[in-house]
Amino acid sequence: MDIESLISPHLRAMQPYTPIAPFEVLARRLGRDPSQIVKLDANENLYGPSPRALQAIAQCGAFHIYPDPDQTALREAISAYINVPAAQVLCGAGADEVIDLLTRAFVQPGDVVIDLPPTFGMYRFESDVVNARYIAVPRRPDFSVDVDAVCAAVMDMQSAGQTPKLLFLSNPNNPDGSLIDEDDLRRLLELPLVVVLDEAYIDFSGRPSCAAWVCEWDNLVVLRTFSKLAGLAGLRVGYGVFPLQIIRHLWKIKQPYTPNVAASVAAIAALSDPDYLRDTVQRIVAERERLKGALKEVGWLHVYPSHTNFVLCRVDRTRAPDTLLRSSEPIGKVLKQALQDRGVLVRYFDKDGLRDCVRVSVGKPEHTEALLNALRDIAA
Ligand SMILES: Cc1ncc(COP(=O)(O)O)c(C=O)c1O
Repeated sequence: MDIESLISPHLRAMQPYTPIAPFEVLARRLGRDPSQIVKLDANENLYGPSPRALQAIAQCGAFHIYPDPDQTALREAISAYINVPAAQVLCGAGADEVIDLLTRAFVQPGDVVIDLPPTFGMYRFESDVVNARYIAVPRRPDFSVDVDAVCAAVMDMQSAGQTPKLLFLSNPNNPDGSLIDEDDLRRLLELPLVVVLDEAYIDFSGRPSCAAWVCEWDNLVVLRTFSKLAGLAGLRVGYGVFPLQIIRHLWKIKQPYTPNVAASVAAIAALSDPDYLRDTVQRIVAERERLKGALKEVGWLHVYPSHTNFVLCRVDRTRAPDTLLRSSEPIGKVLKQALQDRGVLVRYFDKDGLRDCVRVSVGKPEHTEALLNALRDIAA
């Protein structure tokens, strides 16, 4: 039997998502102890979770019991935190799971999903899984959203008899850290589609969340996560905030037992410690500004403005050290490898507009120092 022919044709041809290489694997490959590696490649929160979250896990005696499928306590805690009724909140194993639910709920094969690249790769990945017609409306060179182009694309589709279903908008955007203007967001919300506003990094932007807007706009979904703000990326817990007409369908198709018990108690405890959250955000934002200043002083990196816990840098070929120019590989890839050889992990994207860039997550001051030392060494 030809098993391959039984796999859905669109999945046979599909490109897999490129996740971050596991830490221990890289450490082994580099011949280094994991403690000697500076991990600035996945926008994790290196300050870690509130001690209350760790305590909640240690004290939880319910790991042999399935989680509450209604997520009652977690949704109530989130509701109080964001000031939106719990009935409009649904949690998942990371915001990633909520993206998966949205594409499964809205998209039939051939339906249009609009994406604004360069951006978070999960939108494309989940669109491909459900065999959506993926339409990219590229951002401008400064990474701002070309709202006119989005409106024109939607009009074109409508005249061709097609109804776009979802538009994904990371705000701030991963990988550059830019924010969309409120007026532009409103223009996108006027379009006849559902806007999925991904606020994974909003806490580092100084801007208020738009979560409460879901009470006003019936075509808006807002995504949030505990991975970045609360330092719980490894536990996988995130949520969406929805209009009631949307959320009831998502409950029907959701696997019943995510997030798991440990993730739920940790997330609730994290929200019970607002001073810790606020303090961590302040430290990350302060370190981001210091990192930006130091990277600008390197002299051969263009540093993009960022409202997140990461910074995108473009290598200026005219000033870059010779060591980076010798290879025929894209210069961003060469820089990423050179840093990796020195024990510092950053992210490179093999994508249009990003091949001469690396994205660096904001860590603690000692991580910034390690990065700067590695950059000095590369230039030496
Ligand atoms: C824009 C954006 N949204 C969502 C996520 C994923 O969040 P989670 O860890 O909750 O799945 C990420 C992770 O890097 C991200 O960059």
